[in-house]
Amino acid sequence: MTTTADQSLWLAALPSQSRRPLTGGHAFDVAVVGGGITGLTTALLLKRRGLRVVVLEADRVASGVSGNNTAKVTALQSTVYSQIRGAHGLGAATDYATASLAAVAQVADLARGIDCDLRRSPAVTYAYTEQEVRDVDHELIVARQAGLPVKATTDVDLPFEVHAAIQLDDQIALHPVKYLRGLADLVDGDGSRVCEHSRVLDVSGTRVSTADGHVDAGKIVMATHYPTLDRGLFFPRLELTRAYCIAARVSTPPQALAISTGSPSWSISAHEDKLVLAGQSHPTGKTVVEPFRRLEDFARRHWQVEEVTHRWSAQDPTAYDHLPMIGGYTPGNSTVFTATGYMKWGLTSGTFAASLLADLVLGKPNELADRFSPHRLSLKSLPALLKKNAEVAVELVGDRIVPADATSSEKLPPGQAHVIRDGLGKTGVYRDHEGELHGVSMRCTHLGCLVRFNAAERSWDCPCHGSRFDVDGEVLEGPATRPLPRKEAR
Ligand code: FES
Repeated sequence: MTTTADQSLWLAALPSQSRRPLTGGHAFDVAVVGGGITGLTTALLLKRRGLRVVVLEADRVASGVSGNNTAKVTALQSTVYSQIRGAHGLGAATDYATASLAAVAQVADLARGIDCDLRRSPAVTYAYTEQEVRDVDHELIVARQAGLPVKATTDVDLPFEVHAAIQLDDQIALHPVKYLRGLADLVDGDGSRVCEHSRVLDVSGTRVSTADGHVDAGKIVMATHYPTLDRGLFFPRLELTRAYCIAARVSTPPQALAISTGSPSWSISAHEDKLVLAGQSHPTGKTVVEPFRRLEDFARRHWQVEEVTHRWSAQDPTAYDHLPMIGGYTPGNSTVFTATGYMKWGLTSGTFAASLLADLVLGKPNELADRFSPHRLSLKSLPALLKKNAEVAVELVGDRIVPADATSSEKLPPGQAHVIRDGLGKTGVYRDHEGELHGVSMRCTHLGCLVRFNAAERSWDCPCHGSRFDVDGEVLEGPATRPLPRKEAR
């Protein structure tokens, strides 16, 4: 029998009792917006350097992408070193390797005393097909040049033949929600605080405001995964992708933290008696058909699956030039900082981002500051940036890109959506499983591209900069901040 829960394996372990929200006015040395891996690690590092820090989390600690991932902390990350060397040269790949190895060591250090099921395991990048061998071989060369102690192998703990593989020993798998809750416990107290259900509505100068309170802070760190302030112009430089994940109880869970290099890629790890399988990623706004079923099919092809227990998804930004962006929110800004663009490896990159952010907040020199500055210009990657924004321009003016496919919703089956013409505009209509129709304007409230229906997640997703809305138009992911206007569905 297959049962699934639309919740990550990790968030299922979240206790029901939450931390107190922010109320009233307070002063702290640093306000950190976002209770994920970057925010909590930054807060703890700063607290340990003597600062009073408040973390303001809109929902629950780890409820964002930090609790919706494959729980790998590793410096070997598919073919990331080939990509970085191609865009920036070997110096950048070496810096990324150094920072990632330091992050793995730092997580091991911070996790001491936190009950988070941490285990050491080899990380593996493998070729699932013959066609992937070349990429794996190339990554082996570049990763070695960048300073990673990797080795070639075909002896991988996977129940199918791999055509080539690279291995990096002694990487980390852990329970990310337990780890982050442990970090939050270490931050809370002695003059510092972690507030849940405290969505930041405004950042004005050095004042950060929520619905019920405000904080005056010397410095502000926006650790919201995607930069949410309407300044800094991050959205044209970030590409958003969605990826899907399942947990399945299997008789022999694999030990390695593995990922294949092809498309689709198959990311494999395990927790206790469960296989954790991820993949089927796609640019936001461009959907794939039945991603969860494809993952389940792959799992059943290679393991004895007793039950699929959880399924979840996440959205990740990647910078146009394939390096994380960490630094001042705007050029020269030494008060408000941010970090983003982790390319799906946020437990590792979010940790080294925190070290850099902590130094920047303290005004301490850090040799990686220029490398990861959000305001660097990569001439080699400029064509990719221009191409991406040309595509966005087409979406903005191309009203015919999303044709109307019906004139009425009378025959729309439950669980499906379609587009109907509505005078000069278009209405997206979804029929729920109770038969009720939900109509919304399809014009994204960020800059006006037309949204597309994502059947796997019952959401309207924008292909331009990755905003997502539920079937009633409420914002699920920014940069949009306003809901899609509701429309009468007919
Ligand atoms: Fe920018 Fe939709 S137009 S996210």
